Amino acid sequence: MVVETVVVALWAMLPAYVPNNAAVLFGGGAPIDGGREWRGRRLLGDGKTWRGTAVGIAAGVALAIVLDAVQPAVSGATGFDIPGFPLAVGAALAAGAMLGDILASFLKRRTGRDRGAAFPGLDQLDFVVVSLLLVALVAPTWFRGVFLSEPLRLVVVLVATPLLHLVTNAGAYVLGLKDEPY
Ligand code: CTP
Ligand code: MG
Repeated sequence: MVVETVVVALWAMLPAYVPNNAAVLFGGGAPIDGGREWRGRRLLGDGKTWRGTAVGIAAGVALAIVLDAVQPAVSGATGFDIPGFPLAVGAALAAGAMLGDILASFLKRRTGRDRGAAFPGLDQLDFVVVSLLLVALVAPTWFRGVFLSEPLRLVVVLVATPLLHLVTNAGAYVLGLKDEPY
């Protein structure tokens, strides 16, 4: 069923969706690259901070713990085969999201883009792609059961994420939380 496919796919990625938003809200302070440059450009830039990264991962893991606790109830209420989140899964999804965002900044700096510059495609998918890769590596059984058993769920994630990303970032921009609407 289409609705179940969409619900399960997005539910499974929720711990990967919150870290970036938490980092925007609570980030700042010392940059991860310590101001270091490589080939005349910042390694990552001032937009990737220790605090933002730590708070982002913590927020994703905390959400995964809550979702895991309510999973039986949600599963029963909807009748959908939604997955739970063992700690390793929540941690991989959350850390993967932050890592994807950091790798994207690294690529942006290497391609001459200053902090805050847009990189269409990369901006919208960096975090889900690395989240999926990391969870596939760390928890292959979970990944197989959730995504490989029904690959359409992967398609849903790759199509819906850019849309969700655009909507939340436009919202954060309007609220004055973010400097750019992407
Ligand atoms: N942020 C943070 N730590 C992170 C990610 C984000 O502190 N690991 C905070 C920073 O204050 C950052 C804001 O969230 O400026 C917005 O995040 P993002 O758009 O990813 O960073 P940009 O400032 O746009 O920088 P970049 O061009 O490197 O993406
Ligand atoms: Mg940005």
